[in-house]
Amino acid sequence: MRTYLVTGGAGFIGSNYIHYMFKKYGNEIRIINVDKLTYAGNLENLADIENRENYTFIKADICDTEKINAVFAENDIQRVVHFAAESHVDRSIKHPEVFVKTNVLGTLVMLNAAKAAWELPDGSFKPDHKFLHVSTDEVYGSLEEDGGYFYETTPYAPHSPYSASKASSDMLVKAYMDTYKFPANITNCSNNYGPYQFPEKLIPLMINNALHGRKLPVYGDGKNVRDWLYVEDHCKGIDMVQEKGRLFETYNIGGHNERQNLQIIHTILETLREMLPDSDPRKAGITDELITFVEDRKGHDRRYAIAPDKIRAEVGWYPETTFEVGIRKTIEWYFEHEEWMNHVTSGDYQKYYDDMYSNR
Ligand code: NAD
Ligand code: DAU
Repeated sequence: MRTYLVTGGAGFIGSNYIHYMFKKYGNEIRIINVDKLTYAGNLENLADIENRENYTFIKADICDTEKINAVFAENDIQRVVHFAAESHVDRSIKHPEVFVKTNVLGTLVMLNAAKAAWELPDGSFKPDHKFLHVSTDEVYGSLEEDGGYFYETTPYAPHSPYSASKASSDMLVKAYMDTYKFPANITNCSNNYGPYQFPEKLIPLMINNALHGRKLPVYGDGKNVRDWLYVEDHCKGIDMVQEKGRLFETYNIGGHNERQNLQIIHTILETLREMLPDSDPRKAGITDELITFVEDRKGHDRRYAIAPDKIRAEVGWYPETTFEVGIRKTIEWYFEHEEWMNHVTSGDYQKYYDDMYSNR
């Protein structure tokens, strides 16, 4: 039975990945999930699998060298899938330090622990032991509105403290591959959406605000473009790269689904109106008047767009879920998980929201 060490598995993409992997492999694999449970980590995301015999949760900080080494010492880890990170650009603009700590130093701890556990006396590595570093398209910087795509060969040009910290972590993984022939891959993915996404990110924030009749804060002119990918497609891509990709390679993962932020918000409003029954009292409040333009994000990247040509040609992956289908599934999930949303928006969330939006 192959053992996976997933970091950040209680977050948005990590929890979707764990669900995807158990759906795909059932009892053929074992998953150990290491997560610090920051504000973004939520064990409710994994409630339906927490009692599986082939699943273990360990609460730990990836910067804690001793704890991470112990996880490797006590288990024959064959696959690492490293999601754990601080992931929100707006938070990184206000508080960059924790981004450097977790995203850069935490990745270094993960690399060192895996290297120590997998390296053989002659400097080669145990066969079929692999590390996958989950990264972002934001490391490539910003594209012009009227053209161009991010390829694996595009030079790094990060702008925010978040993307700079992810770029640094990518560079460390590249250095370990180049220097030690450490068996790894990097994936750089575009914007994900889907179940379990924390409502600090555009899509769940807009769904939640609209359902409560609250203003929908659009940064700048609302014409920034992101390339949206349904999260399950990303999870599938990660697994395919790890099993079918060439070691030491980077693969870009993207949806070929570019949309301006305002288009996304209009689609959410229309879909909510379509899906809610007339008898639902919230329906009348879901109008375009909720849209409110606010001060722009500092250093706001204009456009991201991935060319997923390499992953398609080499690995056979392509985005399967159209945005029209994906956004309906996502909204349906939020309808069915009102309690989840109530839990994650209680406590510190209100303070975060006030800090970020009250004087904007
Ligand atoms: P998230 O913020 O929802 O989850 C991050 C998880 O990491 C949380 O469970 C949190 O508790 C955990 N964590 C944070 N610091 C930790 C630490 N020091 N030690 C252990 N655990 C820690 O993030 P996400 O959106 O699921 O993103 C996951 C990964 O995918 C990140 O590396 C991110 O850069 C990358 N990524 C995200 C997107 C996206 O659109 N969300 C796109 C491309 C790449
Ligand atoms: O591209 C991949 C990246 O996508 C990931 O690496 C990041 O972890 C993830 O957070 C995401 O980054 P973005 O900054 O693109 O996502 P966010 O949801 O924060 O914002 C998407 C767009 O919407 C962006 O142009 C800013 C805008 N926005 C966002 C919020 C939260 C608004 O206009 N209003 C808002 O309230």
